[in-house]
Amino acid sequence: SVSKQLLPVYNKPMIYYPLSVLLLAGIREVLITTPDDGWQFRKLLGDGSQWGCSFEYITQPKPEGIAQAFLLAADFIQGSHSCLILGDNIFFGNGLEDLLISAREQEEGATVFGYHVSDPERYGVVEFDQDMKVRSLEEKPQHPKSSYAVAGLYFYDQDVVDITREIKPSPRGELEITDVNKAYLDAGKLHVADGARHRVLDTGTHDSLMAAGTFVQAIETRQGLKFLIEEIAWRKGYISTEQLMKLAAPLQKSGYGDYLMTLPERVAESWK
Ligand code: G1P
Repeated sequence: SVSKQLLPVYNKPMIYYPLSVLLLAGIREVLITTPDDGWQFRKLLGDGSQWGCSFEYITQPKPEGIAQAFLLAADFIQGSHSCLILGDNIFFGNGLEDLLISAREQEEGATVFGYHVSDPERYGVVEFDQDMKVRSLEEKPQHPKSSYAVAGLYFYDQDVVDITREIKPSPRGELEITDVNKAYLDAGKLHVADGARHRVLDTGTHDSLMAAGTFVQAIETRQGLKFLIEEIAWRKGYISTEQLMKLAAPLQKSGYGDYLMTLPERVAESWK
């Protein structure tokens, strides 16, 4: 499920990044929660079949917290494991696919990702003891106990909907995802994976959106590689080479088209 309240217009296309992360993790059934009827997202992304996926949409009538996604998604989840990703986070890095798959395959509990930041007061903060066991979790603390933020990507077992039903809104009137994670922590079932090898970029403010754009541009220019959902769908085998070519054709003017069209020969050279 992709959830973010009041996604400002300017960072709507950011949704391609979190969706790409889900595909990379092998997750193809996605429920997208939107603040209105979601027609803009539907128009942009459709039913997901173009990438070998299935997308559904649900409205979050009022922004009452990230964890509300689990109440809205109860029928969609139907007692299975699930993953929640925020619409404004970008994840980048070597070995990301393996990290995601091992989180997805965790049989019990919750898995979140901790990473070092300079401004922990903006995030959910995780504090470790000397053995790197989680000691506490706090949402946007005024006096953070560590510099480790929890990323906007969460994997849960089948209990998450019931756990969310038990939590109460925080003083800011929101069902906090940190409270869901705390319930797992109290039950001894919270895994915090090390996100240190990966860049986690938040694009929820003007400055962070600009910084993320510059970072992605630098990587793309330097490595000659892009992080495109079409490429991931094709590499994962969700779509055929023929389907990839069909997706690439209308993208030719943007520069993405040429990149995608030459992908099969380049990947054949370097990977296979
Ligand atoms: C949310 C969560 C926070 C998490 C952050 C990651 O914050 O509440 O725990 O660390 O996403 O981006 P928000 O997007 O509400 O500022």
